Order: sequence, then structure tokens, then C-alpha cells
Amino acid sequence: MMRSHTCGQLRAEDEGRRVRLAGWVNRVRNLGGFCFLDLRDRYGMIQVVFEPERQELMDAAGRLHMESVILVEGVVRRRPGSMANQELATGEIELLAESCKLLSRADVLPFTLEAEDTAGEDLRLKHRYLDLRRPTKSRYLLLRHRMAQAVRRTLDGLEFLEVETPILMKSTPEGARDYLVPSRIHAGCFYALPQSPQTYKQLLMVSGFDRYFQIVKCFRDEDLRSDRQPEFTQIDIELSFGDELDVQDTAEAVMAGLFREIKGEELPLPLPRLTWREAMDRFGSDKPDLRIPLEIRELGALAASSNFGVFQQALEQGGVLRGLVFPGLAEEFSRKKIDALQDYARHLGGQGVVVVRWTAEGLSSQIGKFTGEEWLKSAVAAAGATQGDLLVLAAGEYRLVCKLLGNMRLRLAKEHGLLDASAHKLLWVTDFPMFEYDDEEQRWMAAHHPFTQPNAEQLAAGVPESDLLSRGYDLVMDGQEIAGGSVRIHEREMQARVFRMLGISDEEAQEKFGFLLEAFRYGTPPHAGCAFGFDRLVMIFGGTENIRDVIAFPKTNRAASPMDGCPGRVDARQLDELHLKIVGDKPGGDA
Ligand code: AMO
Repeated sequence: MMRSHTCGQLRAEDEGRRVRLAGWVNRVRNLGGFCFLDLRDRYGMIQVVFEPERQELMDAAGRLHMESVILVEGVVRRRPGSMANQELATGEIELLAESCKLLSRADVLPFTLEAEDTAGEDLRLKHRYLDLRRPTKSRYLLLRHRMAQAVRRTLDGLEFLEVETPILMKSTPEGARDYLVPSRIHAGCFYALPQSPQTYKQLLMVSGFDRYFQIVKCFRDEDLRSDRQPEFTQIDIELSFGDELDVQDTAEAVMAGLFREIKGEELPLPLPRLTWREAMDRFGSDKPDLRIPLEIRELGALAASSNFGVFQQALEQGGVLRGLVFPGLAEEFSRKKIDALQDYARHLGGQGVVVVRWTAEGLSSQIGKFTGEEWLKSAVAAAGATQGDLLVLAAGEYRLVCKLLGNMRLRLAKEHGLLDASAHKLLWVTDFPMFEYDDEEQRWMAAHHPFTQPNAEQLAAGVPESDLLSRGYDLVMDGQEIAGGSVRIHEREMQARVFRMLGISDEEAQEKFGFLLEAFRYGTPPHAGCAFGFDRLVMIFGGTENIRDVIAFPKTNRAASPMDGCPGRVDARQLDELHLKIVGDKPGGDA
């Protein structure tokens, strides 16, 4: 090897050792007749000293451009005690240079590589390879690697087999838009990139690979947010002859392995479980952040006596009245802050919320003139508030009220320091509704995906589809959905019935999933599984809220890569070969 050691490796014990180091010039300083150079690689940094005894060498070092790549040979020596740098792992020593070779001269960089993000994200994404030279950024990829290895070790230990499944495939049923790839050989036909390997992993169960996993790229053409990318990675898991508890045990083992190897902590198991309904009732969310110690209270019994039309009508129309207490926030909520809260409620699709403040002067609320003081007293008592607290009330349709109070809970807790970020909180959310009504599509959709088993007892009892629960479950960590899964349907009749409930005709089911339905004819074990969003896991372990930090070469929020300019145009010959014609040719995107 060109180098004998890395830049982060040498210590005081190496004093007197002759070494060769290679790396990037992080900084050059001419001080007191000496030239000091910080040499950096991904392992760390070391100080190299050029002495006036080797004048030519020192002058050449002084002229080196920042970020040039060099090879230095010399002898390790201890720095005088007062010169030691405590912040550097190699800070007790330095390398006295005897020769220095320029391996690659760097031009002036488009931005400086400081610990903080001084340049805009677009510029940093355009030169992502430079951004990744910064230890503050490269650490996420190192963490990602360690986490992937830990996951593999756990699953291999449990006899899960890693199997690769195709990237060019038929459309999958996860419900997002597909990325399509035109076929050259089959004119007018398209492959879809997998939204997940869902169908393949179920087919592997039919094959008898009773414990499967894969760390796998998935592709979804959906609106992007800070926790979503068009291509992302799942830890995909499936097992046969087991149910939700077996999958959950496996997922818990994966998490326990990560906590042990990455954080050196024991994760208390089993993780707590809440049904979807309980999570919604108590926290207003199907992915509750349990680091916030605030719970929603049911106050429906108070609606009738409130004299306030909005509350009364909400209950008459089958809705709910609920409240959430924010301890100690009454004094902080001025008129202006309450208005901002109303705007937020409207932004969430509600008409507003009612705020009751319990200050030293007593109780006050915008609806006090309707309800009177006594009613306000009974409301704060029922909600469990004490003097100094703020009570937020919402009335209306169940899911809307959950959404309003659930979001207020998150927002106010974060803004006012009511969230305890010192520990992670994990839980399973189970018993999801089987179907959700999609207002845009005006039809029932599978809440998870159409291969999820409905609750058998409810089905037998003839519970209406809108109330039917599924055997789906999510793993939630710190208010984020980090994994989702379900017990699958393995009987063709049941699958056909669920397709019909979803308004998928037998013909369409045959066309889309006929291959899976056929496979189920030849002996299918009962099976279940789940998939972790690996990027999200790395985000949480790495303490970042930006999914792009944990991906080597991420896309922008407009699904583009400013670095290589994708998506890009292709030439006419390629289009011809693919039997494609671009109509309404608009100028390209922002790639
Ligand atoms: P699901 O659609 O819930 O389930 O996806 C599993 C997990 O993947 C993560 N995730 C994403 N992460 C980043 N960017 C995205 N665009 C994105 N979309 C999803 C989430 C989510 O919990 N086949 C089923 C799993 C199963 O049933 O076994 C599936 O894909 O963290």
C-alpha cells in the first residue's frame, strides 16, 4: 500500500516510528518559521510539520492548495506537552515530514468544508462528493454501514436467508405511483421498479424459504418530504408458519441488536403495544410520540350543557368533543399565540379549536360568553387541568379531532420543551382499520396493502367493511413509523373477497396479481412479515431530521440529482428503440 497508516491511527506509543501517510490537505499554516499542515482522511486528522532545515520541502508544502491529495513520509514525534491538542485523537503527536509528494492538485472548491453547513443545500448536493468529505456528514454513512451489518448479524443469527429479488418487475401494490421502465424488446410494455418486494417475498414463502430478509432499494414516485425519498431502503422481512407475534419478536430482536451494537444499551423488551384505536384516542395519532407525556381526554359528556352550538352539533352528528391539557402554558398564550393556533387548526382542515386559559386571574375562553364560568370549571376538571394550564378543545368528526389535537400535541410540546428527547420511545401499533376511504379517488383503499388479513372474528360476525380491522401493525419510534407489516392472506378465496371489497374486479385482480393467486393454489404456508424504513432508522440513530443526510447520493425534493443532472433527456435514437415519442415536449425539469 502507498500508505503505512491512516490519518487517525497514530498515537503517542508510535513515537519514533517512520510512517507514510496519504490524505487531503485540510489546512496549512506558516508559524514561527515552521509550516504546519493538517492532513485528513476518513479516519481522522494528523498534524504534519515541515521544518526550516528542509527549506525547499517547507516552501513546497506552504504552496499546497487546500484539499489537494498528498503522500507524506516522516517520523512520528511527541508534541511538547503544552502543544498537545485534546480535541484530536492524534493530538499528542505530529509527523515530522521528510518527503512530500503531490498526488493530485485541487482547484479552489465551490464551498469550504467547515463543520457547519455554510453553503446552501443545492450547491452541496451538486458536489455531494465534497460534502461527504466533512466528518459531520460522512459519519452518517459510517453509522449506516454499522447498522446494516448489525441487522445482518441479527437476522443471520435467527436463520433468516438474504435473497435478492428483481428490480425490473410488474407493478406492486403499495399504493404509490410507480417508476416505469420502457421495454425495448416488448414494444409498448413497461417494467415497474419495486415499491417494495412484497409479492416476491410472499412467493419465496410458497417456495419454502420460510425465513427471508433483504436490505433492498424501493422506489416510489410520491410527493417528497424531509423523511421521504423516491428511492429508499427497506429491511424487508417475511416468515412462514408464524403470526404477528413472531414477526414482532423478530423486529424487536433487530432493534435490540441495533441498540446494543450502536448505542451500547439494552432495549427493554417486549415493546409496549397499543391498538390503533387506543393510539388515536389517547394521542391523536397512529404514530404517537410517547416522549411527550400528554394525553387527550374524552369530554363528550359536557357537550350538551355547553350552550355552544359547535360542540352540541358535533355530538348530534355522531362526532366527538375532546380536550388536551398543556401544563403551565396558560400565561404564555397571548391573543397573538391563540390566533396562530387557530390558523394552524384551519391549516389542518378544521374550523378552529377552543382555548381555555387558567391563569392567576381565573378561567378565560373565547366561548366563555356561551358556556359561563361553571361550565369552564367542569371542563378543566374533567380534562385534569390545574391553575396555570392551557386546555385546547376540539369538536367534530372523530378523525379530524384526532388530527387537530394530535398535531397540536406535537407542535406545542416541541415548541415549549414538553418533549423529553433524552430517551427513545418505541411501541407497536396494532389492529389498524382494514380499509380507508380515499376522498380523492372516492373509493375504499387498503390501509396497509391488499394482501393483509382482515380480523377473522369480525369478518365472521359480519362487521361492516368500514369498521373492519386488519392484522396489520406498525413499529413506531419517537413519533415516526419505522416499520410496517401484517399477517398475509394465504387463501385464494379470502384474497378474492378482499379484492372485491376494494372494488378490484376479478378480471383486474387476475391481470395484476394472477401470478400470486396462482402460486397460492399449490400449497402456501401461513405467513407474515414487515419492512423497516432503513433510512428513517439511520436518521433517528444519527439524530438528523433530514433523510438526505443518511443517503450517499440523495435526490432533491423534486426527485432530481443536481450532481449528475438526472432525470435527463435521452437522444432520439434511444426513444425510437424504446418505441417512445415525447408529446407536448416541455423544457426539462430542474435537474
Ligand atoms: P410500507 O409501505 O409501510 O410497507 O413501508 C415500510 C417502511 O418503509 C418506509 N418508507 C419510506 N422511507 C423513505 N422514503 C419513502 N418514500 C418511504 N416509504 C415508506 C417507512 C415504512 O414504515 N411491503 C410492505 C411491508 C410489509 O407489509 O411487509 C411495505 O412496503 O418507514
